[in-house]
Amino acid sequence: MSPEHRIIIDTDPGQDDALAILLALASPEIELLGITAVAGNVPLPLTARNARVVCELAGSPDVPVFAGCDRPMKRPLVTAEHVHGKTGLDGADLPDPAMPLQPVHAVDFLIRTLREQVAGSVTLVPIGPLTNIATALQRAPDIAPRAARIVMMGGAYFEVGNITPAAEFNIHVDPEAAEIVFSSGIPITVVPLDATHQAITTRSRVDAFRALGTATGRAVAGWLDFFERFDVEKYGAEGGPLHDPCTIAWLLRPGLFAGREINVEIETEGRFTAGMTVADWWGVTDRAPNALFLRDVDADGFFSLLTERLARLR
Ligand code: BDR
Ligand code: CA
Repeated sequence: MSPEHRIIIDTDPGQDDALAILLALASPEIELLGITAVAGNVPLPLTARNARVVCELAGSPDVPVFAGCDRPMKRPLVTAEHVHGKTGLDGADLPDPAMPLQPVHAVDFLIRTLREQVAGSVTLVPIGPLTNIATALQRAPDIAPRAARIVMMGGAYFEVGNITPAAEFNIHVDPEAAEIVFSSGIPITVVPLDATHQAITTRSRVDAFRALGTATGRAVAGWLDFFERFDVEKYGAEGGPLHDPCTIAWLLRPGLFAGREINVEIETEGRFTAGMTVADWWGVTDRAPNALFLRDVDADGFFSLLTERLARLR
């Protein structure tokens, strides 16, 4: 099957980021042009390392991995070791990567790729803070009309926040970057907490990954056992929300999700609300829609897709 989607994943791995990368690598409909690492869940040297650990686990050491911005555009970096562990990928014991980092900055790779490839042929999939994408857009505004779409994990409306009472982590870390992205004019699909909090890693779902009997299955189950403990404690749920792979799942099976085309603005100044996604779900303003905001996911369908695809990896 020839790929329907040519993508760049912009990421801060993160166990759930790792699953997004694995889902993309396991899916023949997707051509992964490169992975750009950004500071987020853990500092940049670790996210750039972790992206390569995941590629090697999947048997794809040839995917080019680029290191990008090491801090948000205007603020100090906020990290999430309390969720992801010290390495960002705690829960599985995997070797340091042998594959090199590319000798090019992630922002330069993003700009170059969008300029060189046929306009409208490349989709950006940011699953961390939006610093790399926004920096590329700021430095090279000509790339905005050349991007096919941005499919991102971030924000929330009904679920409001996870890192603060009002904001989701990826947007909260770099609200100025998010504001640039949401006003770029690029078509955007947002997978917010409203959808990802339905994609819960229940025991049987994690056991299904472990039962694959592969190195990937074992690593994924170990990661999820580690990752979910934080949210189980916090929300009292049966498992943790598996945020980031929902982006790739939307590309593969958009029918698993339901949402609305709405206006989303980013709060950059609020005293208590910096990084809030002000989502006009009920259409109470006359602001033009700028995003497809996904509220619901068929969680069983999502986990079956993920398990079926990860079974193809070694
Ligand atoms: C998002 O924040 C990170 O901790 C996860 O990797 C995900 O991208 C969820 O709020
Ligand atoms: Ca992430």
